[in-house]
Amino acid sequence: MRSCVVLPFPGNEACAASLARALGADLGALTLRAFPDGETLATVTAPCAGRDVVLVATLDRADAKTVPLVLAAGAARDGTAARVVLVAPYIAYMRQDVAFAPGQGVSARHYARLVSAHFDGLVTVDPHLHRLRSLDDVFTIPSRAVRSAPALAAWISAHVDRPVVVGPDAESEQWVADVATRAACPHVVLMKTRRGDRDVSVSPAGLDPAERRTPVLVDDIVSTGHTLVEAVRGLVAEGHAAPVCLAVHGVFADDAVAALRAAGAARVVTTNTIPNAVAEIDVTPLVAAAVADLLAEGGARAEHRAGR
Ligand code: R5P
Repeated sequence: MRSCVVLPFPGNEACAASLARALGADLGALTLRAFPDGETLATVTAPCAGRDVVLVATLDRADAKTVPLVLAAGAARDGTAARVVLVAPYIAYMRQDVAFAPGQGVSARHYARLVSAHFDGLVTVDPHLHRLRSLDDVFTIPSRAVRSAPALAAWISAHVDRPVVVGPDAESEQWVADVATRAACPHVVLMKTRRGDRDVSVSPAGLDPAERRTPVLVDDIVSTGHTLVEAVRGLVAEGHAAPVCLAVHGVFADDAVAALRAAGAARVVTTNTIPNAVAEIDVTPLVAAAVADLLAEGGARAEHRAGR
């Protein structure tokens, strides 16, 4: 493997340090200074010449981060990095994978094109692949989509007695089935109707409370929390034990954790793809393995990019 340096985007220091340790790579520094006019100066403090540079930047609240991200990649490239790889445990815009109304853009495609123009590779965790089959449908760079299911299933096995995994909507079937199989428990998938950003309803689970199972709601993203709040309310109304809420990505656009607790959730837990107070499930080892795999993929493209 080529010599490698890991750079944390602000807020990603813990993940970057773990990755550097796991990869046997150096840990460098990236500083972003805002000029009085609001423009950003990105400075990389690490030798980059001829090396693989791994920039770690989880991309919730992506609009504010994206211009600094592009400038940071540019700074590494100006330092003649051989490759600049993005580790974005959460990758933004994947939910806008189709034009839902006339005149809308397919943001997933446009955002992926932007990232592909500035990086030589991407590693992310459970991207929202619903109508898109794979990252290759929109990204033009080598990529790895890490599945958090092993970590979620291990958490369930360790913390929940007699679980039944519940997916809140049809698109959750893919990860819910995988998690339930790994946790050796049954699963059920609800139907969701979304009428607006904060206006959703979900169908009843139809589970028999007499089976005395603990519902574990599993979703990929909690944003406003309304999807899981409605699912929690339904399960509580059906007479089940207080549900546990698990999510891969705790985006938490509103005060979703408080809303879920108020609705009757026993616990709310996420992975650490986005640092937050309930990010108990560490997926960094899974990410590190994927980064090592991607970096081991040599290539003409890397040589081509190094020379541009
Ligand atoms: C939907 O496509 C996703 O899988 C999540 O269910 C959704 O993003 C959750 O959003 P919110 O927390 O705002 O209901």
